[in-house]
Amino acid sequence: MATPRPCRGVFLLPVKTHRLRASDRDHGDMTIQAQLDDLHARAAASLAEVVDLDGLASWERSFLGPKGELTQVLRGLGGVPAGERPAAGRAANSLKTELSAAYDARARQLSATDLERRLAADAVDVTLPGRAPTIGTVHPVSRMIDELSDIFALMGFQTVFGPEVATAHYNFDLLNIPGDHPARDVWDTIVVDSNDEEIVLRTHTSPMQARTMEATKPPVRVVVPGRAYRYEAQDASHDWMFHQLEGLAVDEHITLADLKGVLGELARQLFGAERRVRFRCDYFPFVEPGVDFAVDCAVCGGKGCRVCKHSGWLEMGGAGMVHPKVLAGVGYDPAKYTGFAFGLGIERMVMMKYGVDDVRAFAGNDLRFLRQFASI
Ligand code: PHE
Repeated sequence: MATPRPCRGVFLLPVKTHRLRASDRDHGDMTIQAQLDDLHARAAASLAEVVDLDGLASWERSFLGPKGELTQVLRGLGGVPAGERPAAGRAANSLKTELSAAYDARARQLSATDLERRLAADAVDVTLPGRAPTIGTVHPVSRMIDELSDIFALMGFQTVFGPEVATAHYNFDLLNIPGDHPARDVWDTIVVDSNDEEIVLRTHTSPMQARTMEATKPPVRVVVPGRAYRYEAQDASHDWMFHQLEGLAVDEHITLADLKGVLGELARQLFGAERRVRFRCDYFPFVEPGVDFAVDCAVCGGKGCRVCKHSGWLEMGGAGMVHPKVLAGVGYDPAKYTGFAFGLGIERMVMMKYGVDDVRAFAGNDLRFLRQFASI
């Protein structure tokens, strides 16, 4: 360190270590005490302006740090005339103690405010009511499918599923619906591809009749829930996509009485022990004889009301004895085996059970409608 040069009895900082800064004063004509007083005043004023820990750190650097102003003064004490040195040393040290204490106090204060600020920012109001997670519920149609599967399981039917896209072969041909049958008209069939083989969205769950029989030998007892599609205008009781539940039982000695017994039991399980079923002649190319079947209205007990449109009966679907041509088509011997089949409209059953008056609600994605089934 270069030897400080005394100048008019006043200490001057060694040139080499002295970097000129804005805060530097010309100390040339000041006593050491005056310098310290000046430093004290500026340090106190500057500390008062410090608002955060960063500011405090830089304050510490400029006054107390190794290159700070007070440290420079202490280092230069050697150049003070011997007579004045002890007093100057005491004064400088006491200023150092004072500034250090002020620094510590301010540091504690600022850390506390900083902590408070961070705590306030992260604050969680534990008294706020919790936000309930929105969990989905089972769609009413899926729920009806589960219920139907359970009922049929108790009667010995296995639930199977099939593809929603079908060849015309399974959707029509094997069901004894010849190529020129009106049901094959695109008027009510959504055709996916008609280049080589005609591919359609199944117009009913019945293609699973042949597929199931091809895959297994009698006895057969299956129910097939799933979507079906028809090219038709929507209204309160028609949608272009809907659900059916196909039923098929094939064995030796199966008769129409078995069909009536099974569907009667279904109606009572679903709609109450008092229910009666009605079978009337109907025509489907793949059954002979064919019937439509209805249940007496559970709402009015058959007297007639809004739900049954004052007829006393609710139509549930089509059914009949499997046509011998259908059995033969899958390689079953029609002389040995007989069977029954039925197709139920699932939305329709939910509508009856819960009094829903528009089928379009089921695929309409209106949560206000769907949530009503959450608590049932
Ligand atoms: N598949 C027929 C329909 O969609 C219903 C049906 C199924 C009728 C089985 C008889 C036997 O209308």
